[in-house]
Parts: sequence; structure tokens; C-alpha cells
Amino acid sequence: MTIRLRRLRTTARMREAVAETHVAPQSLVQPHFVMDGDGADVPIESMPGVARMSIPSLVDRVKSDHASGVANVLLFGVTEKKDEQASAATDPDGLIPRAVRALRDALGDDVLLMTDVCLCGATSHGHCGVLSDGVVQNDETLALLAEASYAHARAGADVVAPSDMMDLRVSAIRDRLDEEGYINTAILSYSTKFASAFYGPFRDAASSSPQHGDRKSYQMDPRNRREALRESLLDEEEGADMLMVKPALSYLDVIADIAEAALAPVAAYNVSGEYSMVKAAAERGWVDEGRLVSEILTSITRAGADLIISYHTRDAVEKGWLG
Ligand code: PBG
Repeated sequence: MTIRLRRLRTTARMREAVAETHVAPQSLVQPHFVMDGDGADVPIESMPGVARMSIPSLVDRVKSDHASGVANVLLFGVTEKKDEQASAATDPDGLIPRAVRALRDALGDDVLLMTDVCLCGATSHGHCGVLSDGVVQNDETLALLAEASYAHARAGADVVAPSDMMDLRVSAIRDRLDEEGYINTAILSYSTKFASAFYGPFRDAASSSPQHGDRKSYQMDPRNRREALRESLLDEEEGADMLMVKPALSYLDVIADIAEAALAPVAAYNVSGEYSMVKAAAERGWVDEGRLVSEILTSITRAGADLIISYHTRDAVEKGWLG
């Protein structure tokens, strides 16, 4: 009688050879928080290992990360200059354009520069769009997002990543970039972005918490899987070069759906709260950080993500926590 084994009859080397999923370091993106001035790094308490950095410190950091194999970065600007119209976000000499120029000068084309485009870090009220009578105004916000994207593109960003979730922003940004001649600047749309408690530590890091209300009117309901797919497919139609699901871990089903239905590459954002949970448990010795990170990155890749934005990137690449 033949007994059929249901697992593969393999050695460790064979298992490595036939594994269905590999996390590629070239598909990982390290996010950075850039601040005004040239002061010392300001560690973010709720995100151990992550700090707000001045532009000179950022350049040093990106250079040394690059030397160890991290080639992609996503930049967030953290500014104290806030007003109703988010003018710091659209300033052609604002924080992000200056950081992009400094990185380009230092590293040339060796690094893929992606910039977050949103108004929430620069509005006095902390919402992702301009307000009128306390309500976010979708259409008035579009021109400002297009202006901010143009400022980033002109400074040399490879990819602009709008994270605001206003309707029709992808086409507004695409039109503006094309008009200005930036036809090769790509748009990575935060196309399926859930209203999530996992962004808590990020809002500390970026000083971008809404002063009143929440983001549920423009971010997505975590209960809706079909709506999640629809949002991303609409952005693909509008001209997004890449789509994104955010957060990642509670939404692997959504990543898989979009990867299946869309033709554009799919990114996943392994967000601040997901990172902080791992760090907090690891600090207490409750989990094996390396194995956990490797398993997390593997599962996001297995679900179908082509690109992963994660605060674990540097450690994963340097320590080989790739799975
Ligand atoms: C800004 C933005 C947020 C994140 C990225 N861009 C926060 C939010 O929407 O509240 C979250 C990233 C993270 O938690 O790591 N709109």
C-alpha cells in the first residue's frame, strides 16, 4: 500500500529552491520623516528606531542605508508651518522639494525617490483637505494636491504618492504633471486607504492628527471588501501607475483581490501601528522580531503585493529578515 504524503518530501535546501514566495529587497521601501532646520534627530517614542530627521541627517541616513541595499525611500514632511490653505505643502521650496534635491545631489539616480502628497501635515486643522464650514472640500483640495505634486516632481521625485483620498485626485495630478512636462513622474495612489486605528503612531510622528472629527468621510470603511476593490480600479482608470492598500496586515484579502483584478503593480503599506506592535512585543522579549518581520513581509508578498512600504525595511535588508 502506498501512503501518500501531503507535504513535500524535501530537504531544507529543496524547500528553499521550491518556495513559492520570496521577499525581494529591491521591492521594499523605507519611509522617512523629514523636519525643518538642522537640529538633532528627534526619536518618535511610539515607533522605536524611527526618528524625525533634518535634511542633512536624512541624506546621511539614506546614503548609509543605500550602501547596505535599501534603494527606495518614501518621504514625509513634518512642519510646524501650518495654515488653512496648507501653503507649506505646495511651496516649491518647501521641506520635501528641498529634501528631494539634496538626496538627488548626493545619490543621483541610485535611489528611487517617492514623496507622500497630502495636506494634513500642513493644515492648521490637520485634515487632508481644505475645509469650509468644518467640511472637507473635495474639489478645492484637488488644485492644491496637483500643485504639491508638481513641486515634488520639479524637485526631482520619481514617484508622487497622494495619500489624501479625495475623489479624482489622480487625474487632477496627472493632468498637471503632463501639462508641466513631467510625463515620466509616476503616481503611486493610496487607492484603497482604510480609516484605521493603525495610523496612531504615524500621526504623532507627522504631527498630522485632525484637531476635530475623524477621517471617515474620505477614508474607507474597513468592513467593505468590494468597495475597496472598486476604489483601486477607479484610480487605475484615472491613470494611477501603481495602486496601494493601506494598512497591510488586516487587509491581505483586499491586496489579493486588487492584485488579481488590476493590471497595475500593487503596493502595500505596512503602517506605523503594525510596526509599533512588533517593536513593543519584541522589546519585552515576547516575540522573535526577525522571524516576525520575515513572516509579515512574506505574507504581504504572498497576498500579491509587488512593493512593500515598511518601517522594518532597513532591519529586514541589513539583517536578512526577508523570508
Ligand atoms: C497622511 C498619511 C497617513 C499615513 C500615511 N499618509 C496618516 C493618516 O491618513 O492618518 C499613515 C502611515 C502610517 O501609519 O505609517 N494622510
